Amino acid sequence: MFYNEMRVAMPLYVQVKQLIKEMIDKGELRPGDRVPGERELAERFRVSRMTARQALNELEAEGVLVRIQGKGSFVARPKIRQALLALTSFTEDMLLRGLTPHTKSLKTEVVEADRDLAELLGLVIPREVWRIERLRTADGEPMAFEVSYVPRRLCPDLDEQLRKEGSLYGVFERVYGLRLVRATQTIEAGIASREQGGLLGIKAGAAVLLLTRLTFTDEGVPVEYVKSVYRADRYKFVAELVRVAEGREPVRVTQKELPR
Ligand code: GLP
Repeated sequence: MFYNEMRVAMPLYVQVKQLIKEMIDKGELRPGDRVPGERELAERFRVSRMTARQALNELEAEGVLVRIQGKGSFVARPKIRQALLALTSFTEDMLLRGLTPHTKSLKTEVVEADRDLAELLGLVIPREVWRIERLRTADGEPMAFEVSYVPRRLCPDLDEQLRKEGSLYGVFERVYGLRLVRATQTIEAGIASREQGGLLGIKAGAAVLLLTRLTFTDEGVPVEYVKSVYRADRYKFVAELVRVAEGREPVRVTQKELPR
């Protein structure tokens, strides 16, 4: 009864949104399907066209629908749900989802780390680092653009090894015997530059997620500082939060245990 009362009190456009979402959840509308337009929705649900438009606009803003100029609105593919607390590689993340990862190497060079970078990576002399620019795709679709910095002395022939192996974490662990155990990561909102948009197949100015990650070995040695640009229309980060009681460690959730 309470639920019904809430539903009555709910603005009409919110009810239309919910009905469309229910159709998606039940599989009546699948990713890529065209969603009825404003006029059809207005007739079907007996609401005004303005109400139908507002529902469609909000669903588009939430990333549930994608609007294509002159063609209509379509059901978006579900975003990739990325565990926030698991230290995994792009290759592992994609394989876990049954997607085929691929990396387009854009530029690999050795540069001199500036003061900030040298400090992050704990470098005194030499300050030489590999600078690796890569475009990451899954099943052929661009997902992320990443620029990694790795101390050269830890991985002297990283360029060659990376060409063979494909996965940077794979090279760290399998080739150089570096055991990655923890990282500090930041995530911020951003918008794609023209160049990033071109690489990622999104419009310049589209929303992106900007990440930085500094990864350490079991000996506490920083091995990689990376700046990543992830497509915000394809990714969401998920973490299970637990209330920390005194004397109890926060629970770590792995990728497989992610809540739905
Ligand atoms: C993710 C992380 C990066 C890391 C990369 C390694 O994309 N955001 O910080 O460099 O994984 O991935 P791979 O081992 O597939 O090269």
